[in-house]
Amino acid sequence: MNIVFLGPPGAGKGTMAERVADESGLAHVSTGDIFRDNIRNETELGRAVKEIIDGGHLVPDELTIELVQDRLHEADVQLGWILDGFPRTRSQAEALSEFARVDLVILLNISDEEVIRRLSGRRVHPESGRTYHVQFNPPAKEGHDDVTGEPLITRDDDDEHAIQMRLSVYKEQTEPVIAYYRKRKLLVDVDASGTIDAVATKIHALLKKQQPS
Ligand code: AP5
Ligand code: MG
Repeated sequence: MNIVFLGPPGAGKGTMAERVADESGLAHVSTGDIFRDNIRNETELGRAVKEIIDGGHLVPDELTIELVQDRLHEADVQLGWILDGFPRTRSQAEALSEFARVDLVILLNISDEEVIRRLSGRRVHPESGRTYHVQFNPPAKEGHDDVTGEPLITRDDDDEHAIQMRLSVYKEQTEPVIAYYRKRKLLVDVDASGTIDAVATKIHALLKKQQPS
């Protein structure tokens, strides 16, 4: 099964994709994580996209589409995947339809106020992408990753200015992707305003309904 997770910044795409991937064996493909790995490793791609991402803008379609197309040809995704953060423009959605099949699109809905609450308290373990929240999902030891014990960081694009930019980019460029998939009857809305466990339970039930009996 191939699933796309859509939703505003901070909606919980990464958190939910990680859970579903763990339970189902589907591969979790996050374009944001791929870009951040490249920035951390100071690759040519990382240097090209750092300023764009830190400012809350979108990386150009051409570059992003090629990256995803290559990723979806790798061996570990052949049993199915969860795309987190792609597509986020209509051109990306159209391109994806030419090289892959999408079975289901899950749209995580939250208010702008909740976006700010979630992003301002987010902490991440940069190596693995594991995500915490100081209030809603704290690590066992404050400021440290549960698995490795290494320090957690705040993402460079989680400052107030970049968050506002990401929200407005989402409304202008990514909301048309919602209409694109709704028209094709692939999209299911999920109210993602509850706790992490409550939202995960809803998604679990939804996926169970999709499985052939
Ligand atoms: P990306 O990494 O995709 O960022 P985003 O879309 O802004 O989404 P986030 O990762 O911020 O949020 P999330 O929905 O994953 O929420 P999370 O689970 O972490 O992209 C970053 C940048 O890369 C883009 O701005 C762009 O520049 C570039 N880029 C990426 N893809 C691109 C593309 N296709 N085209 C062009 N450019 C692209 O949760 C957030 C917080 O809330 C966490 O602290 C978490 O613990 C907490 N939380 C989660 N769920 C709940 C809950 N139910 N209740 C309470 N707290 C919760
Ligand atoms: Mg994410």
